[in-house]
Amino acid sequence: MEMKMARRALMLSMVILAGLVSLIAGNISGHNSSPADWLSRGHYRDHIRKMQSFKASFLRRDSVSQPLTSVSPSSAPSPLSFAPSPSVTPSPRVYHVTSYGADPTGNTDSTAALLEAISDAFNQSSGDGFLMEGIVNLGGAEINLEGGTYSISRPLTFPTAGRGNFRIQGGTLKASDNFPATGYLIDMSAPPANGADYNFEYVTLRDLMLDANYIGGGIQVINSLRTSIDNCYIAHFNTNGILVQGGHETYIRNSFLGQHITAGGDPDERNFSGTGINLMGNDNAITDVVIFSAAIGIIVSGQANIITGVHCYNKATGFGGTGIYIQLPGNTQTRIVNSYMDYTGIVAEDPVQLHISSTFFLGDAYILLKSIKGVVSGVTIVDNIFTGSGNGIEIVQLDQSNGPFGEVNQVFVDRNTVDGMNVKSTVARALVQGNGSSWTANFNPTLLFPNLINNVQYSLSTPGSLFPNYALRSTSNNTVVIESDVAISANLLIVVDQGVSN
Ligand SMILES: *[C@@H]1O[C@H](CO)[C@@H](O)[C@H](O)[C@H]1NC(C)=O
Ligand SMILES: *[C@@H]1O[C@H](CO)[C@@H](O)[C@H](O)[C@H]1NC(C)=O
Ligand SMILES: *[C@@H]1O[C@H](CO)[C@@H](O)[C@H](O)[C@H]1NC(C)=O
Ligand SMILES: *[C@@H]1O[C@H](CO)[C@@H](O)[C@H](O)[C@H]1NC(C)=O
Ligand SMILES: *[C@@H]1O[C@H](CO)[C@@H](O)[C@H](O)[C@H]1NC(C)=O
Repeated sequence: MEMKMARRALMLSMVILAGLVSLIAGNISGHNSSPADWLSRGHYRDHIRKMQSFKASFLRRDSVSQPLTSVSPSSAPSPLSFAPSPSVTPSPRVYHVTSYGADPTGNTDSTAALLEAISDAFNQSSGDGFLMEGIVNLGGAEINLEGGTYSISRPLTFPTAGRGNFRIQGGTLKASDNFPATGYLIDMSAPPANGADYNFEYVTLRDLMLDANYIGGGIQVINSLRTSIDNCYIAHFNTNGILVQGGHETYIRNSFLGQHITAGGDPDERNFSGTGINLMGNDNAITDVVIFSAAIGIIVSGQANIITGVHCYNKATGFGGTGIYIQLPGNTQTRIVNSYMDYTGIVAEDPVQLHISSTFFLGDAYILLKSIKGVVSGVTIVDNIFTGSGNGIEIVQLDQSNGPFGEVNQVFVDRNTVDGMNVKSTVARALVQGNGSSWTANFNPTLLFPNLINNVQYSLSTPGSLFPNYALRSTSNNTVVIESDVAISANLLIVVDQGVSN
């Protein structure tokens, strides 16, 4: 099959090439003129147009001759009606849930039917050794929800672990009123099987609307590898929209999560609860995701996760909400980039290796560094945009109610643009004009950490003819004092930073 396709593509490209060559040759030889001539007369553009339409005619014909993927709501679990090629395994790979008696209107319970379809898809006794050891390769087996809405009273728990290359797609799942409060509509929590290190590998959940009916959660991914959650709309969760625990590389992208269906300014915003995405694992990515209602948008307690292109307007900080909560003692290695914190901010507990950049903070949204054991290390908060209401809210704040940050190392808060909020930074500069022998600059309004200046640079300029001696006397309480041996009129430019300590 693949061979045939490849050969066909090759032949096609040869035909196109031959056609183009003859087209060019035909024209150049047909005109007895220099190439410059030829170009200047506008033939070139003409030519390109012809070449393009010639090529397009091939492409068009080719696409017509492609077999159309038929969407047959066929009987029983059967492969789509492609002409089967002998090299393809004859076992069914697309499981149409209505064939199992699932009710696509959502009126009657479809739990058993859906579980049976999944179970059938999982019914493969041996793998081909392609995936991780102990994971059976299901070859892309697909549970097709056929655009229906299915009411379920129990979680769709995968019947056994040790399966991979499997997908569920194309419909709506809705928890019924007796759904368990701790359940997830799709539950990948089976314990590892066959000595595998992971439960599942390469499971794709795509184009799904999940309605947890204010009872349970949306998707639970436990100890799995390379899970994709793509283009899903997850609503009405009371616990987590998505919970990822253990495993690696769950990629959540192009998805929408919200406890309540709202587009902002909801009168009940104060009452939003639950968490959009709970990452209790490492190496996951959240990409291009909107979290529009939940008490916490994303909570991260694993390492090396990346959050990018995320728009959080889940619950305003003013109502007690948090956009992104980084909660992990020790190395978090979280990167939050290119995101949009919309009236809701970021909280990080004792952050070690945290990067936040190119993110837009709207509506007085700010970053709170919360001391647990007083450690903040390897933190960059740079190149963000902050916009507020002019109420003096600081863009980065410290919560030292559990004790002060005693260990501050490699913290860089700088180069953020700020409108209607107060700048906080680990770098500050001041120009002090004076006439006398002492110059003082208080950097407390700008510097993030109290009583911490690791580095000072200063330069004195004076219009007089004197060359005075002058020296740094104090940096205590973020206040720089410089004195000269004689009284002079001079300007001092002072730059301080809190970032480097070694
Ligand atoms: C070449 O270009 C001329 C003028 O644009 C056109 O009349 C002629 O048909 C072209 N020849 C070929 C082989 O397409
Ligand atoms: C697959 O299903 C058949 C019956 O339908 C059953 O006998 C068999 O044990 C199942 N195999 C696996 C691996 O579940
Ligand atoms: C929201 O919470 C307040 C107080 O906590 C309560 O009075 C109100 O009824 C709640 N609204 C809804 C829609 O539950
Ligand atoms: C600086 O102070 C001295 C003494 O107080 C005064 O004579 C002088 O005019 C002052 N110079 C300037 C530039 O203000
Ligand atoms: C540090 O400076 C601030 C003013 O910026 C002042 O309010 C505070 O009392 C000073 N603290 C100490 C210990 O001197």
